[in-house]
Amino acid sequence: MRTAVAIAIAALLVAAAIASSLCAAEIPQGERRSGYSFMAPDSQAIQNDDTANPGMLWVLDGEVLWNNKAGAAGKACADCHNDASTSMKGVAARYPVLDKTLGRPVDLQQRINLCRADHQQATPLPYESHDLLALTAYVAEQSRGMPIEAGTEPELEPFVAKGRELFMQRQGPCAAASAASALKPMTTAHRNWSSWSFI
Ligand code: HEC
Repeated sequence: MRTAVAIAIAALLVAAAIASSLCAAEIPQGERRSGYSFMAPDSQAIQNDDTANPGMLWVLDGEVLWNNKAGAAGKACADCHNDASTSMKGVAARYPVLDKTLGRPVDLQQRINLCRADHQQATPLPYESHDLLALTAYVAEQSRGMPIEAGTEPELEPFVAKGRELFMQRQGPCAAASAASALKPMTTAHRNWSSWSFI
C-alpha cells in the first residue's frame, strides 16, 4: 500500500516537473496567435464588420472627446495634437513605453491621463472609465492593422522579466497560466470571454 502511494506521489512529481518545464519555455514566434484566432466564428464576424462591432461606439465617443476642451487649460486634445489620423498613427502600437521622468513603463491609458493632468490641467480620468476607454479606443484605432512593437530600452528589461514571470505563473481557480492557454486550443467558455480589440 505504501509503495502504491509512493509511486503515485512520484508520478505526480514527474507530471508537475513536465508541466513546469513546459511553462518555463517561451512560446515560439511561429506559434504565437492573436486573441482573435481563439474567437468563435460569430464573434470574429462581429469584429470583421465595423457597423456590427459595439467597440466602434467607444471609438466614436473618443473622437468627440478628442475635440472637447477640458480642464483649467481649456484645451482639447485636438488643440495640441491636431488630426489624430496623422499625429496618433502608430502610437498605440508602441505602448507601453518607458516614461523617462517616471522611470517606469506607462500604458496608453496612463499616457492619456498624463496629458489630462499636465497639459489640460484636468483631473485624471478613472482607470477603465467610459471616457478613458473611449479616448484610448480612438487613439488605438489610428494604429489599426499596424504590427505591435515593444520598446527595447534596457530600463524596460526588469518590467519585461516580471511580466514574463506572471505570464508563465499558474494562478486563479483554474490554475491556468496564460502561456499554457496560449499553447492549447481554447474551450468554448474561454472563447466566449474574448474581448474586443481595436487594432
Ligand atoms: C497642451 C497640449 C496638449 C494637450 C491638450 C494634450 N496633449 Fe497629449 N501630448 C502633448 C505633449 C507635449 C506630448 C509629448 C509628451 C509630453 O511632453 O508630455 C503629448 C503626448 C501624447 C501622447 C503620446 C504620444 C507618443 O508618441 O507616445 C498621447 C497618446 C497623447 N499625448 C494623447 C493625448 C490625448 C488623448 C489628449 C486629450 C485628452 C491630449 N494628449 C492632450 C501635449 C498635449
